Amino acid sequence: EDAAPRPPLTAIPPHFRALADYERQAPAHLAGEVWRHIESGAGPERSLAANRAQFDRYRLVPRMLSDLRGGSTAVTLFGQRHAAPILLAPVAYHRLAHPQGEIATMNAATALDTTMVVSTLSSFTLEDIAATARAAAAELGRAACPPLWFQLYFQPDRAHTLELVRRAEAAGYGLLMVTVDASVKHSTFTLPPGVEAANLRAMPRIAHQADPIGGNILFGTALMDAAPTWDDIDWLRSQTRLPLVLKGLLSAEDARRALDHGIDGIVVSNHGGRVLDGLVDPLDALPAMADAVGDRMPLLLDSGVRQGTDILKALALGAKAVLVGRPQLHALAVAGLPGVAHMLHILRAELELAMAQTGRPSPRAVDRTILSA
Ligand code: FNR
Repeated sequence: EDAAPRPPLTAIPPHFRALADYERQAPAHLAGEVWRHIESGAGPERSLAANRAQFDRYRLVPRMLSDLRGGSTAVTLFGQRHAAPILLAPVAYHRLAHPQGEIATMNAATALDTTMVVSTLSSFTLEDIAATARAAAAELGRAACPPLWFQLYFQPDRAHTLELVRRAEAAGYGLLMVTVDASVKHSTFTLPPGVEAANLRAMPRIAHQADPIGGNILFGTALMDAAPTWDDIDWLRSQTRLPLVLKGLLSAEDARRALDHGIDGIVVSNHGGRVLDGLVDPLDALPAMADAVGDRMPLLLDSGVRQGTDILKALALGAKAVLVGRPQLHALAVAGLPGVAHMLHILRAELELAMAQTGRPSPRAVDRTILSA
């Protein structure tokens, strides 16, 4: 059914101008089942489609003749400087897309002074990926690499969760992003040979298999029993001084609750439409969540971000930064390290153009008045 995947290109095709070019080319470089795993969403994929359409509901109002000298895309998040309000979302198993996996992605991210959020389910160890960032920064003559962030999935056993936290701290990660929306996700995808969860080698995982018809589904299963709760968040908060960001909240009520539990930030996300179909669009959830937390914590947003104007719209509605998920794997599969670097460059260039056209010299200066209606 599927043609053999092509190896990554050794040069970026000169006609590539947009993330959509990588997305269009990626299936030729991936095994069919891997492409479908990366692209797919939950259920009939209405959320997946809505993630793209949500940005199209807003139009930008241009503002002319503003003085943009000294302008910059830089933002400060949790006291750390980021060159742009653009981060690479935690995405599992980059080796699915390229033999060099997260090593290639981190090299590209470092070259573009961008934070890559390293997944618990990375296919190289979190230590190797952090070392890659430092080595790449040193080679570029930079004093430091961009801020290192680790995405934490709670493990069935707190001792193993804590082991991941301590390893991340020891490796120099400066923030933990705790993903809370995928604990009870169904998946039928089987990893191909040579791709593994490198951080979890010695840790037991829950192999969730649906019981026969008439048996337990989620309630009553080990998977559900191991899913974290606010008590686990309190426990984690008591175990580490690193900033904690919860990824996967979509309600103002949960945002307020996160504040009460000592959380430092939130990623407003529906996990790229992969967990439950028909969830509220992140862009729609954002304003009420921003009102709920005010200046007390930054909100980040992901799910469907594909161009600079998407980023600007998210900033206008209350996000301090965005993350991109699938485009990393598209670029990695098509052209490896240079592909990911190019993908990030395109987003940054599009964002600068959109800021200039709306008369905003900094992300801080972006507000609702750039949106029509
Ligand atoms: C993900 N995502 C994800 N999130 C997370 O916290 N840990 C993970 O390991 C993964 N793994 C993962 C694998 C794949 C193949 C995809 C597509 C996504 C979700 C990811 O961080 C992000 O929320 C979405 O990808 C954002 O949507 P877009 O940008 O892909 O539309």
